[in-house]
Amino acid sequence: STQFTNILTSRPEPGVALITLNRPKALNALSSPLMNELSQALKEFDSDPQIGAIVVTGSEKAFAAGADIKEMKDKQFADVIKENWLGNWSDMTRIQKPIIAAVSGFALGGGCELAMMCDIILASPTAKFGQPEIELGIIPAGGATQRLTHAIGKSRAMEIILTGRHFSAQEAEKWGLISRVVGDGEGVVVKEAVEIAKTIAGKGQIAVQTAKETVNAAYELSLAEGLRLERRLFHGLFATQDQKEGMAAFTEKRKAVFTHL
Ligand code: CAA
Repeated sequence: STQFTNILTSRPEPGVALITLNRPKALNALSSPLMNELSQALKEFDSDPQIGAIVVTGSEKAFAAGADIKEMKDKQFADVIKENWLGNWSDMTRIQKPIIAAVSGFALGGGCELAMMCDIILASPTAKFGQPEIELGIIPAGGATQRLTHAIGKSRAMEIILTGRHFSAQEAEKWGLISRVVGDGEGVVVKEAVEIAKTIAGKGQIAVQTAKETVNAAYELSLAEGLRLERRLFHGLFATQDQKEGMAAFTEKRKAVFTHL
């Protein structure tokens, strides 16, 4: 597989890919080279039949401290509009397999937004979230004005985005931004994320990817359209061997062995 310089990749458990952001001197600031490598690694794992779920993490100190300020500070309006600056960040939302963010330390600006593009967010008690773009004279551009607002509501999103203040893992949990705060200690949040990924990788991949697609559709479609999509995709699963195997295993009181067919 491809050699990367800004990220590390590994396979800690069967079916699980782990991507570790690795620019420690810049607190994992999300430079263009880093984001290109992340996109490429995600695409490679997405098309790898051995992989069922992907974990994205950073270091104990920083999940990611945002877009790379040094890279963008001298850009002009004409540059950013012609390049569609940060437009490629949404590449991540086209990955079909579940992505779990394991967040320790700073998840600021684009770092918080990167976590919000994942399907599940776990945080250690050290996690510090925030959208400090307002301090830089800009606004978030990796999705926070939309995803944070959907996740935690207008008043909280306005407070966070307009003041730039950080918020804790406990607040993020209380507000429903993350699924939970995972116990203290180095590496614990990554271990837990890998466990969840392993559990997901043990299911039928067609059903898993369909489930991800339908939940994400809840953000795009009306209720009637979303329910229709859900039911039609559910019907489609009756064409899979995994549905036959899952239901046969239930009636035979044994564990299902999914073949992803
Ligand atoms: N871009 C580039 N470099 C960054 C960076 C960033 N976002 N965040 C940190 N760094 C660099 C620092 O410049 C510093 O480098 P040097 O040693 O070369 O000076 C190194 O990482 C360590 O950082 P600090 O010395 O600042 O560490 P600290 O512990 O004192 O503070 C921090 C940590 C509070 C996270 C602070 O670094 C910080 O506020 N970073 C910027 C956070 C931010 O504003 N993020 C939003 C970026 S804009 C964005 O993301 C747009 C978007 O919506 C996509």
